[in-house]
Amino acid sequence: MKSLTARGIFVISVFILSAAVFAEDKDNAAKGRELYLGEKFKCYTCHGKEGEGGMGPSFKGIGKNQSVDEILQKASHRCPPTKQCNPKEIGAIVNYLRTL
Ligand code: HEC
Repeated sequence: MKSLTARGIFVISVFILSAAVFAEDKDNAAKGRELYLGEKFKCYTCHGKEGEGGMGPSFKGIGKNQSVDEILQKASHRCPPTKQCNPKEIGAIVNYLRTL
């Protein structure tokens, strides 16, 4: 049990760290917007087409109010390790959210 939990934490931290590397590249915000609106993640269904919110919270001003790490961590809530989710894509989506 213990080692399984430790492994889960390890997998999640590696995920967040590598997504943070991709979030350094601010030019991918346009790509992030495509992914945000895309059928793979469907972020917009809960957060609104322009990030205005809905069932989930609005992203307006999130880049000013929260650190990149915080946003990355929360943006992964739709990405459990079992789901096909790629740190590069999440990094790009977070960059898009930071422009809102
Ligand atoms: C099924 C609905 C749903 C979908 C789809 C969804 N979210 Fe969320 N999201 C929520 C809800 C509800 C919350 C608030 C409670 C929580 O954190 O779980 C939230 C919270 C967040 C937060 C924290 C916001 C804050 O102000 O602290 C971020 C960032 C986020 N989501 C990003 C995303 C991204 C990126 C996607 C697409 C990859 C996504 N969400 C898809 C429902 C959703």
